Amino acid sequence: MDFNLRFKLAILSVTLLSCGSNSSAPTNRNEAGSRDSSPPCASGLAAFEKNLYKPILRTTCLDCHDAAGPGPSHSTIDPAASYAMIKTYVNFGELSQSRIIQHVQTKHWVNYDPSATGCSVADMTTALQNWWDEGEKDCPSSQTTQTSTTLIPAHLPLFPQESFVPMTWKLDSLGEAFVGAEFQVEIQQLAIPTSTSAGAYRLRKPRIATPQAGISIDGIHFFINGKLQDSANGWEHLGAQIAGHESNRADIFDGSPVLSGREQIVLQDQASGDSLSVTFSGIQVIAKPVCKDLSVFQAKVLPVIHQLSCVGCHSGGAPGGFNGSAKLLLTGSDADICSAVRERVSFSVGEPSPFMQIGFLQSNDHPPVDQAPQTFNQDWQSWVMGEAK
Ligand code: HEC
Ligand code: HEC
Repeated sequence: MDFNLRFKLAILSVTLLSCGSNSSAPTNRNEAGSRDSSPPCASGLAAFEKNLYKPILRTTCLDCHDAAGPGPSHSTIDPAASYAMIKTYVNFGELSQSRIIQHVQTKHWVNYDPSATGCSVADMTTALQNWWDEGEKDCPSSQTTQTSTTLIPAHLPLFPQESFVPMTWKLDSLGEAFVGAEFQVEIQQLAIPTSTSAGAYRLRKPRIATPQAGISIDGIHFFINGKLQDSANGWEHLGAQIAGHESNRADIFDGSPVLSGREQIVLQDQASGDSLSVTFSGIQVIAKPVCKDLSVFQAKVLPVIHQLSCVGCHSGGAPGGFNGSAKLLLTGSDADICSAVRERVSFSVGEPSPFMQIGFLQSNDHPPVDQAPQTFNQDWQSWVMGEAK
């Protein structure tokens, strides 16, 4: 087991202990709400204020969701703060799966004030739909575009087995630009639920396959049974720019890059029958991404790729299970190789690039390779900075 995972398991057991002792404690959503510090999208904010904020949130939810609580402060005097927070409760792809609808459905307010009226599910659904139609759908960053839900397979390989199974979502429902696109992760069972502790899933190798020339994506969040899982935020800053690949390959994901070399733990919600949906932030169609700084790549990165014999297994020639070329081809012109590597770079500050994580640090059970020279990290960074311009 790699160190990273050992560390995560340690955190997980702490999380489980605290969940076990007080499983009904309300989650503090303030962090989730303030997570997005970028300026809100004007059209989305305006439609939010008109359809939801003024007529519902600041009218009937206010009593309990203003700054002083007792509920999470999602309806305060600051519409932008409210907007950022409420967005984490909404699944625009499947409104009925939204946490906010579920909270309206249960009329949770009567637990705190029997005379509170709240609002109806129909009114809330209409408000959310109008918010989307009248502005939110045009927000590039609000591509809080969420997939439909997919049932987690019933009998997953159990850790510490090395096998995973793929889980796939078709992205057609995200809009015209995503017809034919698919998202995939590999999943296994990390821990089985017991009478005293929650179970957990272990996810890795997120990938998007698209017929478009290119897609850029900021991050991924997981919703389990319609609820945003705050702790499953390891992939929220991917900063990837990927190219589309021909769909005539044996597997539609062949050639499509991993978006992170790190793993993601998702806590199990129910004893069985959990379903997952995925929200993509900042997902957009872009022109085919190509290398901007080929000469730096040739001088600083390519020689190390050759020196460490990465090409052998990534050129289609290597035998059987050691053949890494279906997913990553390091053949063709220097510009081709540069582009393939660039798709596995993270342009988010502080986020490790999957190319480095997997190829050089052997995450995701990558076959062992020789150590890169001491200076490589710096050379890599200087190339990535040129590409990010
Ligand atoms: C009488 C008080 C009260 C009223 C009125 C009220 N809520 Fe709540 N709400 C709470 C409390 C307390 C919590 C936290 C505990 C819980 O989840 O039940 C909460 C939680 C929530 C959550 C879940 C937040 C999270 O972090 O999971 C949502 C969503 C929500 N409320 C939406 C609304 C909406 C929308 C309205 C207005 C239509 C509303 N509430 C009206 C008291 C209230
Ligand atoms: C011994 C054979 C072998 C060698 C040598 C090798 N790889 Fe790999 N590589 C693989 C296999 C097998 C995979 C897994 C492919 C899969 O997920 O199906 C892989 C996957 C990868 C991935 C993930 C690609 C993706 O998008 O899924 C990266 C990045 C990578 N290798 C980089 C490197 C780098 C950099 C080197 C040289 C330092 C290297 N590899 C050397 C066999 C090898």
